[in-house]
Amino acid sequence: MSTTALHLEEITPANIETALALRVRPDQEHLVEPVAKSLAEAYVHPGVAWPRLIRDGDRAVGFLMAFLDIDWKGDGSATDIRSGLWRLNIDAGEQGRGYGRFAVESVAAEIRRRGGTRLHVTWHPGPDGPELFYRRLGFQLTGETSGGQTVGALNLPDRPLA
Ligand SMILES: CC(C)(COP(=O)(O)OP(=O)(O)OC[C@H]1O[C@@H](n2cnc3c(N)ncnc32)[C@H](O)[C@@H]1OP(=O)(O)O)[C@@H](O)C(=O)NCCC(=O)NCCS
Repeated sequence: MSTTALHLEEITPANIETALALRVRPDQEHLVEPVAKSLAEAYVHPGVAWPRLIRDGDRAVGFLMAFLDIDWKGDGSATDIRSGLWRLNIDAGEQGRGYGRFAVESVAAEIRRRGGTRLHVTWHPGPDGPELFYRRLGFQLTGETSGGQTVGALNLPDRPLA
């Protein structure tokens, strides 16, 4: 029986090969780590990393990984706790069909479910990066950079994204 709705799946022994086979376009490979690296990071950050396969019916169309409640400054002060989107890889042949938007909305819903009100993301700056995608979804620049990446944030009201 096929599943028709757009949905997320936890990564399991049954779908890990499918997740690992996802590829962005070759010219986008500098913009996001491969799924294998994200899953390795998820292994060493249990409880923080939230990796999911994105499916449209039976078709695997992408991968996302959220980060949940991290100490952003990393100095143990816990004065700036943030959640957001860590990785987003929409398969090369599946881009431009709304799956990236669905991924952001899904992470927003999970953060809201946990009581959060803001979704953070960092991206590769410049015209080849995904900035226009994030801005289209309503993200605003925080004015910060992190590891050479632009930091954006989306406030999470109780309504669908723009
Ligand atoms: C960036 C990425 C996640 C976007 O996913 P997508 O599924 O292609 O995007 P969607 O189809 O959901 O687009 C949502 C909206 O953003 C717009 N958009 C998407 N990419 C855009 C771009 N590069 N420039 C301008 N607008 C863009 C779409 O037109 C759409 O607008 P609409 O709702 O008004 O029609 C995807 O292209 C990708 O995986 N890129 C390579 C890796 C990457 O950069 N990941 C992000 C790492 S931070």
